[in-house]
Amino acid sequence: MIARAFCAVLCVAVFAEAQYANNVCISLEAYFKNMTSNPKCWYDPEVDGTAQERAQNNGFLLEEHQVTTEDEYTLPLYRLKNLDGSYGSQPIFLQHGMTADAACMMVNKENSISYYLARKGYDVWLGNYRNCDSCTHATLTTSDPKYWDFSYHENGLYDLPANFEYIKNLTGQKIIHIGHSMGSTGLAAYASVKPMEAEKYIKHAILLAPAIYFKKNDDILGNMVATLNEILAIFPIIGYDAILTKDSFESLALQRFFYSSLDNAKFFHLALSTIFGKYTHPPEPEKFPVTLNSIKAASFKTLMHYVQNIRSTEFRMFDYGPEQNKIRYGRETPPDYDLSKITNSISLVYGLYDTLAGKENVKAVYQVYHKPNWDIFEIPHNHVDLLFSRDARKTILPLLSKIIGKAIRK
Ligand SMILES: *[C@@H]1O[C@H](CO)[C@@H](O)[C@H](O)[C@H]1NC(C)=O
Ligand SMILES: *[C@@H]1O[C@H](CO)[C@@H](O)[C@H](O)[C@H]1NC(C)=O
Repeated sequence: MIARAFCAVLCVAVFAEAQYANNVCISLEAYFKNMTSNPKCWYDPEVDGTAQERAQNNGFLLEEHQVTTEDEYTLPLYRLKNLDGSYGSQPIFLQHGMTADAACMMVNKENSISYYLARKGYDVWLGNYRNCDSCTHATLTTSDPKYWDFSYHENGLYDLPANFEYIKNLTGQKIIHIGHSMGSTGLAAYASVKPMEAEKYIKHAILLAPAIYFKKNDDILGNMVATLNEILAIFPIIGYDAILTKDSFESLALQRFFYSSLDNAKFFHLALSTIFGKYTHPPEPEKFPVTLNSIKAASFKTLMHYVQNIRSTEFRMFDYGPEQNKIRYGRETPPDYDLSKITNSISLVYGLYDTLAGKENVKAVYQVYHKPNWDIFEIPHNHVDLLFSRDARKTILPLLSKIIGKAIRK
């Protein structure tokens, strides 16, 4: 209730503001009529596109598969296919991060990881964690609190292997995993808890902006987080189990406000830079609605799990409190994910301007756990603009290509 009331106040303010920002064409029709005559009128047609349409706009077909997890979530899994019906070789599995879905790897035209690798001849698959809009569960609906009872632990231990097994069955090959942010957190959890199984499915894992360790945080984030944990804990109690779900109040408010003008979109990116780090390679203004549209649901448990990790500065399983922990883990504190158990070869890639999973944090993982088959690279990005930057094909994409080439030759 408190959350809703708070949001309502915020949203009224946001809508009031939007009323005054009437300097844009926010429909596709108006865009085509007026883009040239009115410099303030901007729109990217891909903003409302389906995954299929996006792929087609970029010269590919998109196959949709359905994967079912051991705990009965059904997740769409996409595979890019050439227009002549052929597939690339060597499966590459792309896994999105928090408050996102597979589309975040497909919205940046020639700068998108997915199309770039498909053009290089790879067999590109895009996974969705269970937070995705079209994800379902056998018995639970999204209005059921139990649906949202997951964090990156379940994403890693259930969602990932369901996808991996499916791809292995269909192609007979091990994948190369590329995980962005929580796409890496899930993989690190999985490969440390089930190293033998991970070895069976994964040839090489590339962890982009991996949100694993939070050893070093600036004071703003640290202070924010210290307060956040108490506040976040209230939300599930009052029946608010996920944020930014499809058609939720806050999702619509975000879109209405930030789609309403270029200035608002720029403001939004400025605000985000306090979390993700400086945008040194910002997306083109026309891209803003697309990047905003890539924002998807997250469970509160996921947020809480990260907050716990930021507080403890350890990469640990979910803390349910001493009593519950005893039942679940046989001890009062949650166990660490033991990264030294990972046997997979791994490339860590961090953004120089990333304030969330930046240099110190990723280097800490590397220094503590690396084996001879691990390496580490730097790219000139913040936490998210490696996905949305207009320069990705000059920075991160060639690096990925190099890492993959080397992993395959091994
Ligand atoms: C097109 O732009 C002109 C000039 O800025 C403006 O007067 C007109 O209302 C716009 N039309 C549409 C459909 O947005
Ligand atoms: C993969 O193949 C094995 C063995 O044939 C089968 O048991 C399993 O159900 C298959 N998994 C998927 C996800 O298709």
